[in-house]
Amino acid sequence: MAEELVRMDNITKDYGRVRALDGVTFRVYRNEIVGLLGDNGAGKSTLIKVLSGAVQPTGGDIFIKGRKVEIKSTTDAITNGIETIYQDSALVTQLSIARNLFLGREPIKGAGIFNRMDQAAMEQVARDLLKRVGITKNIPPTTPIGSLSGGERQAVAIARAMHFHSDLIILDEPTNNLGVAETQGVLRFVRNARDTGHSCIFIAHNIHHVFQVVDRIVVMRQGKVVADDIDPKTTTVSKVEEVITGMSEEELRAAVDH
Ligand SMILES: Nc1ncnc2c1ncn2[C@@H]1O[C@H](COP(=O)(O)OP(=O)(O)O)[C@@H](O)[C@H]1O
Ligand SMILES: [Mg+2]
Repeated sequence: MAEELVRMDNITKDYGRVRALDGVTFRVYRNEIVGLLGDNGAGKSTLIKVLSGAVQPTGGDIFIKGRKVEIKSTTDAITNGIETIYQDSALVTQLSIARNLFLGREPIKGAGIFNRMDQAAMEQVARDLLKRVGITKNIPPTTPIGSLSGGERQAVAIARAMHFHSDLIILDEPTNNLGVAETQGVLRFVRNARDTGHSCIFIAHNIHHVFQVVDRIVVMRQGKVVADDIDPKTTTVSKVEEVITGMSEEELRAAVDH
């Protein structure tokens, strides 16, 4: 049995009178790619925001590698090996690719008051990483993020997660606004993540994309996990759509016809 990397137990999140998460239990194992599906408003983003420190849960416990943790900030999440890549990655458009890769974790050279960021080291690592994430165009690491395409920006965000050896990389709708080739690049990364020693949680609108790359599918509906062990190799997209909506195939067809 693979090691349990993350266990979220009985997680609840209330926004005033809206219960966004209602007793969610969710696990991710080492080297596992989990697809998280559900209709708009099902609670997917809220669940991963709890794990990435962006939102504090109202109740429940989080365990990382069996140890109970408090994740009160993004920094806490990163310390626990969790990196999150959103639709619009939190990159600083004015700063270079190299600076963005190291944001807050810049290598330093020199001692005491004479210390400064090791620019050359950052640029060398940036060049290697860009190659690893499939940017074959020769983009200098000094290029500001603002002049990159959406797909190239996502590649930089992914490169950052890879460089800092995150155990878990969370991608929340990372392919929105991307072109076809760029989307394929992100999908290729997710598919190969386990070979580079990462686990992933992958959220995407396109169920077909999720089917292509994940080991296991978890479905949420109205703040609850309604299925947590769907094997994409032994089921169909339409069966999973039934689980997502809670409607039978006939009901779904009727809903589409109207
Ligand atoms: N900051 C917030 N304040 C109030 N309600 C929120 C907030 N964030 C999410 N919600 C509500 O929580 C529920 C789950 O939202 P979300 O996690 O974004 O769903 P999903 O990512 O599956 O589309 C929705 O009803 C949404 O309106
Ligand atoms: Mg969402």
